[in-house]
Amino acid sequence: MSVDDVWDKPQDKIWDGGAAQRYDSPGTGMFAPEVLGPTVDLLAELAGNGAALELAIGTGRVAIPLRERGVPVTGIELSQPMVDRLREKVDAATIPVVVGDMATTQVPGDFTLAYLVFNTISNLLTQAEQVECFRNAARHLSPGGRFVIELSVHDLRELPPGQQGAVFHAESGYMGVDIFDPVNQRLVSHHFHFGDGEDAKVYRSPHRYVMPAEMDLMAQLAGLELEARYADWSRGEFTAESRSHVSVYHRPETR
Ligand SMILES: C[S@@+](CC[C@H](N)C(=O)[O-])C[C@H]1O[C@@H](n2cnc3c(N)ncnc32)[C@H](O)[C@@H]1O
Repeated sequence: MSVDDVWDKPQDKIWDGGAAQRYDSPGTGMFAPEVLGPTVDLLAELAGNGAALELAIGTGRVAIPLRERGVPVTGIELSQPMVDRLREKVDAATIPVVVGDMATTQVPGDFTLAYLVFNTISNLLTQAEQVECFRNAARHLSPGGRFVIELSVHDLRELPPGQQGAVFHAESGYMGVDIFDPVNQRLVSHHFHFGDGEDAKVYRSPHRYVMPAEMDLMAQLAGLELEARYADWSRGEFTAESRSHVSVYHRPETR
């Protein structure tokens, strides 16, 4: 399958039963306490005494510990298998989830916080869908409410003229390579997992990458204002070298 074929693969085919079964890695990787702890701390603080909406809630990696912290959480999620996996851990009364597209699906309730983490805005593959997603998040917020996004910053300096790909992570047993299409501002991530033998399992996913300035404009179109941008969940300073950002937007009290 060529890179162009991956671009056309629908998200619900990517986040299928197999992906849902492989997703959780309790205690390690994105499920490690040093990753989840600061994430949940900041989200709980920003939610205050209100409720939170997670766009693309997945298997509840963040939502479950946030709920355990006392914050009511509702989710929107496209993939039924990911929701089924979440349901093995919590029931619908504890964390209600509506199955649908985060760019358009509306859920009942008023939220002081909406959040979209782990680079998932890039799963929406056009600028128009990403703008709709900002608008949808904004629609759910009470006045003064916040929308928090976590997203990688791709280092395009790694792409000298004529080179299409860049390794974004390499460790024993795993290698991640992005193939870029800079004209259309998109990339296909390749995840290679090596087992005991010579062969690797490869998973590929298409993304539309967005730089922080473009995201700020999307927020503006949705009536939101940038309140803070951090390099990480511990409020590290965002600099030119930061490879990720956590951006906090808020809905003004009056608009
Ligand atoms: C990287 S996972 C993140 C899950 C969870 N937020 C977390 O932090 O672990 C991406 C999730 O986005 C979901 N997703 C992709 N496109 C979506 C869309 N348009 N609307 C809702 N969910 C979507 C996928 O099904 C998958 O569960």
